[in-house]
Amino acid sequence: MVLMYLVICSVVLLPSSSSDFCYDEGYCDPYAWGDYFPSCHPIIEGHHSPINLDHQVRRNLSLDMLHLEGFDSTQRGRWRLKNDGHSIMLEVDSGMTVSGGGLPGTYETVQLHFHWGSSSTNGSEHTIGQLRFPMEMHIVNMKSIHPNLTAALDDPTGLAVLGFFIDVAYADNVNFRPISDAVPSVAYKGQTASIRPFPLISLLPQNNLSQYYRYHGSLTTPPCSQVVLWTVYEAPIYISWAQLKQFVNGVYSTEEGAEKQAHLHNNFRHIHPTFSRTVYASKDARVLTDATCPPLSGAAFTLLIALTVTGLSSAL
Ligand SMILES: *[C@@H]1O[C@H](CO)[C@@H](O)[C@H](O)[C@H]1NC(C)=O
Ligand SMILES: *[C@@H]1O[C@H](CO)[C@@H](O)[C@H](O)[C@H]1NC(C)=O
Ligand SMILES: *[C@@H]1O[C@H](CO)[C@@H](O)[C@H](O)[C@H]1NC(C)=O
Ligand SMILES: *[C@@H]1O[C@H](CO)[C@@H](O)[C@H](O)[C@H]1NC(C)=O
Ligand SMILES: [Zn+2]
Repeated sequence: MVLMYLVICSVVLLPSSSSDFCYDEGYCDPYAWGDYFPSCHPIIEGHHSPINLDHQVRRNLSLDMLHLEGFDSTQRGRWRLKNDGHSIMLEVDSGMTVSGGGLPGTYETVQLHFHWGSSSTNGSEHTIGQLRFPMEMHIVNMKSIHPNLTAALDDPTGLAVLGFFIDVAYADNVNFRPISDAVPSVAYKGQTASIRPFPLISLLPQNNLSQYYRYHGSLTTPPCSQVVLWTVYEAPIYISWAQLKQFVNGVYSTEEGAEKQAHLHNNFRHIHPTFSRTVYASKDARVLTDATCPPLSGAAFTLLIALTVTGLSSAL
């Protein structure tokens, strides 16, 4: 009976749908990154990202809302939006930091970027109960004591990344327009655009920022360094289908004028096992607590009940 439950609930690690995501020439398959970047080999007991978030999370009452310093003010100068051939990235100026919520120190916000699928596939990196969202946004923060990224990658907790699922709603998200409206100007690899700064908090879900999951993982792109404290928020950001399409249909992994154009699709890495890692749920996290098991279908549930009854009657 318990075994049956485990079998039904266990995570099936299937490769993601055929990916046309290329990490430079020849590195098209995230499964093959390890051939070029040894640190990307998902060794046993390694702690790689992304992961599937399931019912095996542990509540940690000390995990309350993170302190997002400077996210509510408008920076001076300009920010830079960039197509690096793997994602669309927004580089922000120094002055914003992330701390609290169990993080071991203060982390300076460096950039944010996106992962997406295609017009027929969802493309978040993390999944919740096997469910993949259309997109995921990552806000990358580097521990302030480090002078540069190279130094941060040598610290097991050198980076703190805030992950937000992005889902589709009917209406445009007006706060998301500074980014989605600028995507066409960075459609091709290597293009950059200058963006007027805006309060970063406006991109985030208005409530629910105290609901999140926390675990120790890695970068999801080469060199896959296992130095990231992940905060994955429960509540998604909502954008319209038209805004999602700017990414899904309008971004290329190739340079403008290249002989053969390729859309940038499915730029997410496959799900990794948690092994012995603990995934914490914050004090206010809502779903996935208790022993809920999302993939349990009606038929499986009936079977489970039947087995329980059979087990009980044979025990009596
Ligand atoms: C809760 O999280 C904090 C901060 O990450 C950690 O130090 C502590 O050990 C965790 N508590 C439990 C009971 O796991
Ligand atoms: C993809 O995302 C949509 C919109 O959130 C959702 O309804 C659907 O179930 C997702 N599909 C998969 C296969 O996860
Ligand atoms: C990064 O910081 C380290 C430690 O201070 C220093 O040794 C190194 O030269 C720096 N690297 C770069 C690329 O600036
Ligand atoms: C966000 O918080 C509100 C108010 O506490 C709650 O009703 C809602 O269910 C939460 N949404 C999610 C996605 O957890
Ligand atoms: Zn990312």
